[in-house]
Amino acid sequence: MDDLNRLQDQLLDQVAQAADLTALDAVRVQALGKKGEVTQRMKSLGKLPPEERKAAGQAFNVVKEAVADAIEARKTALGEAQLEARLAKESIDVTLPARPEALGRIHPISQTMEELVAIFGEMGFAVAEGPHIEDDFHNFTALNIPPEHPARQEHDTFYLPGGEGQPNKVLRTHTSPVQIRSMQTSKPPLRLVAPGRTFRADHDATHSPMFHQIEGLVIDKSTHMGHLKGTLTEFCRAYFDIDDLPLRFRPSFFPFTEPSAEVDIGCSRDGGQLKIGAGSDWLEILGCGMVHPKVLQNCGIDPTEYQGFAFGMGVERIAMLKYGIPDLRTFYDSDLRWLRHYGFVPLEMPSMVRGLSL
Ligand code: PHE
Repeated sequence: MDDLNRLQDQLLDQVAQAADLTALDAVRVQALGKKGEVTQRMKSLGKLPPEERKAAGQAFNVVKEAVADAIEARKTALGEAQLEARLAKESIDVTLPARPEALGRIHPISQTMEELVAIFGEMGFAVAEGPHIEDDFHNFTALNIPPEHPARQEHDTFYLPGGEGQPNKVLRTHTSPVQIRSMQTSKPPLRLVAPGRTFRADHDATHSPMFHQIEGLVIDKSTHMGHLKGTLTEFCRAYFDIDDLPLRFRPSFFPFTEPSAEVDIGCSRDGGQLKIGAGSDWLEILGCGMVHPKVLQNCGIDPTEYQGFAFGMGVERIAMLKYGIPDLRTFYDSDLRWLRHYGFVPLEMPSMVRGLSL
């Protein structure tokens, strides 16, 4: 019994001395583990005469429990102390400046589309959308595009199998099919822009197989070419932020407008440097015209009652002109250094009131 008491005192002492959780665990293994002192001694119980075995067994259990309880208590105490120490050491200094966040950038194409929508939104235009995968009717036929038109050629356009017994589908070659869809679903008066992705089988320094356009459509009873000219003049001056920017409307041809025009803005190229604004030169930026009566008819709108205008322009092109981006291909290189240079700060949304490009 004395021996047992000594063992208990010795073990409790060791528990009390354990300086940290690792040391405490070593004490536990040494005392209560499989080869621990208490365990080993309990094994010798079998050698005792049966009448002494019960009392000795109980005495061992008392020691075992006392040691286990002590270990548990010490463990809690050590754990708390450790936590206290950590909390003291890791205290947060709320007066420190916030860490700088690695902010992303808005791609110039997204920024430009936001600017376009902001300008036309201010003029009362709504935003319309259409599918990228179109059918022949919306992309060509309803727009009065004849079967022999080059845009329909296999090698100029991406066609997709239409599925069981269905005609081929086409990746829209322009945003003009949104004109058709809008006229089919809404009654005039209409005043909308349709920004979005377009596709053509073209790839060189000035053409990308995927690019962006913005379409405009206005249909009303008395909309005339003066409205077309006024709207586009206002738009170009707002977008390029040049109040006296001259515009030139050159006669042109599109199957879906009559008459049709191409719009140039004034520029100068002194010393090889392109500068937008009144100058001795012109730069083509968009196509437009009065909506062809056949197109109105194709959409169930009576051309003797309604008329209007449409326009379409390439977003990449006007983004390159405004932001001095020299190579079209860089838009889609996904080069982060390029994006950091040409990109825009998020949350600074373009608006007519605060300025389009901050
Ligand atoms: N859809 C024409 C193109 O892609 C542009 C355009 C739109 C011209 C609307 C006139 C009217 O070239």
